[in-house]
Parts: sequence; C-alpha cells; structure tokens
Amino acid sequence: MAIPRSEYLSAVWRDGIFDNKVVFCTGGAGTICSAQVRALVHLGANACIIGRNVEKTETMAKSIATARPGAKVIGIGAVDVRKIESLEAAVERCVKELGGIDYVIAGAAGNFISPISGLSANAFKTVLDIDTIGSFNTLKATLPQLIISAAKNPNTGTNPSTGGRIIFVSATFHFTGMPLQAHVAVAKAGVDALSATTAIEYGPRGITSNVITPGPIMGTEGMARLGSREAEKTGTAFKKVPLQRYGTVKEIADGTVYLFSDAGNFVNGEVLVIDGGDWRTPGSP
Ligand code: HXC
Repeated sequence: MAIPRSEYLSAVWRDGIFDNKVVFCTGGAGTICSAQVRALVHLGANACIIGRNVEKTETMAKSIATARPGAKVIGIGAVDVRKIESLEAAVERCVKELGGIDYVIAGAAGNFISPISGLSANAFKTVLDIDTIGSFNTLKATLPQLIISAAKNPNTGTNPSTGGRIIFVSATFHFTGMPLQAHVAVAKAGVDALSATTAIEYGPRGITSNVITPGPIMGTEGMARLGSREAEKTGTAFKKVPLQRYGTVKEIADGTVYLFSDAGNFVNGEVLVIDGGDWRTPGSP
C-alpha cells in the first residue's frame, strides 16, 4: 500500500529535482533509511537498496517504488556490509541496471543494549565491524561511481543538477558518552571521522560527504530497543527532548533531500543532527 507523501516528505520540495539520478543505500529496508530513499524516489530518483534479509529488502523495494509511477527500485538482499566483495557485486548490479550511482546513504547499523561489563570482545567488535568498517566498505565500493557522478554534475554553486554525494547515518552517543552504548558510541565516532576525512580528501573532486544523526525517531528499531527503558516507564521519555516530542522519519528524509539537493551544494564535512535538541540535554535515553 502506498504511504501518503505527507508522511515522509515536506511540501517545500519540488517533484523532479532528482530526475535521472540513482541512490544506493545500505540498510535500506530499515525504517529510517527507507524513508530517506522513498523521499528521493518521490522526487525523481531511482534506487538500489541493500540489506541482509532478502525478503525484507525486496518487499521494501516494491513499497518504495510506489512513491512515483515509473520508479525503478531494486532490492538486493543477502549483502553484508562487513564483506566488501558482496557490496562490490551489489554496486555492479546497480550500475548495470540503473546506469550509475549519484548518491549514497551508508545506513546499515547494528545495535543492542549492553553495559561494558556485558560486552565480549567479539560483541564490541561486531558493532564496529557493521557500523564503522561497513561504512568504509560502502564508501570504497561506491567511490568510483561517486567520482563519475561528481564530474558529470559540477558543484559550481549554481548548477541545480547534483551528484557525487554521500551521507553517513550516525548517532549522538559519542558527543557526550552514553551508558549501555559504548560499542555504538565508539563505532559512530569512527563514522563521523570517516565522513570528515572523505569531505576533505574528495571535496576537490566535487564530492560532498556529510553525516545525518537521527535522535529519538518514532517507529524505529533503535527506539524499540532503547526507548522502552527506564525513561519510558517513568513517563519522562520525551521530557528530555527540548521540543517535547520524538522525531519522525519524514524529518530525517527532509535533511537527506536538503543535503543531496542543490540547497546543500556548499555543505561538506558536516554533521546534521536531527534530534529536537535531545543530545544537549543531560541524562540517559
Ligand atoms: C551483549 C550481545 C548482544 C547483547 C549480541 N551480542 N547481542 N552481547 N548484549 N544484547 C554479542 C554476541 O553474544 C556475540 O558475541 C556478538 O555480539 C556477535 O553476535 P552475533 O549474533 O553473532 O552477530 P550478528 O549475527 O552479526 O548480529 C549483529 C547484531 C544484531 C548487531 C548483534 O543485533 C544485528 O544484526 N543487528 C542488525 C539490526 C540492528 O541492530 N538494527 C538496529 C539499528 S538501530 P560472542 O562473544 O558471544 O561471540 C541503530 C540506531 C541506534 O543503530 C540509535 C537509537 C536512538
């Protein structure tokens, strides 16, 4: 069933701004990343979403394709971002079927709640492997396509046709430190550093690299795992968020469209925190 536009995209964006563009997204069957891709597809892009679960990824690809008549959305399952060969094969298929890659969203992530005392060395490493190494692998596998796209769409400041852009999906935990999230905080600090370095190293080739950092977003797996904790039980859950509510996936999609559109031409190496001010308020989630 088609999801109404108003649930995943603000009215400010114009249809067609991403015509003939292709987005490649890891973790694309997840709640946040699928909303990001759905918004881009609505505005003209075709897409390739990558996931570990075949059925979930293919079903989500079909759902995203309903955002625009004629949209091509491929779901490639059984891809583990920890294995660069499987990502390279997915990139090859995306290029063959959709013609190239203009935008990348590195969104695949792994998370669970655990105190440091409950983390085995392998548990800690597993999250770093998925989040940090997986983001690096995604960048490495798609970089040749990003370079081609950036060359075709010069970032002059006035060119409305953009390309050669990557967004890494991160978290705010490493800004302050976060109990029960040592593994994720460390992994995402690495993701932010990777994005900043990419921005500097590849900016001269016209590529932009930025981070989007979602806070507490309704309906996500992250909230299901983290949000049901003590704060939820005591009714203080969103009192911690200065805006006194949780965010929506649409608000993450809006940030994504901004960074990939020509409105974001000069934004490079930044961390766009979309959390209602949550991370600035002390206390656990
Ligand atoms: C302690 C745990 C654990 C837990 C797993 N491990 N769960 N340790 N507490 N709750 C340990 C295991 O015992 C094992 O260590 C090691 O981690 C690897 O576990 P596996 O199950 O073998 O790994 P794998 O099958 O690769 O699964 C990875 C995973 C899993 C991260 C553990 O949860 C996963 O695949 N998640 C993907 C989906 C996901 O997490 N989405 C949420 C993203 S939300 P030993 O020593 O026993 O071998 C997000 C945003 C958060 O990231 C922000 C919210 C605001």
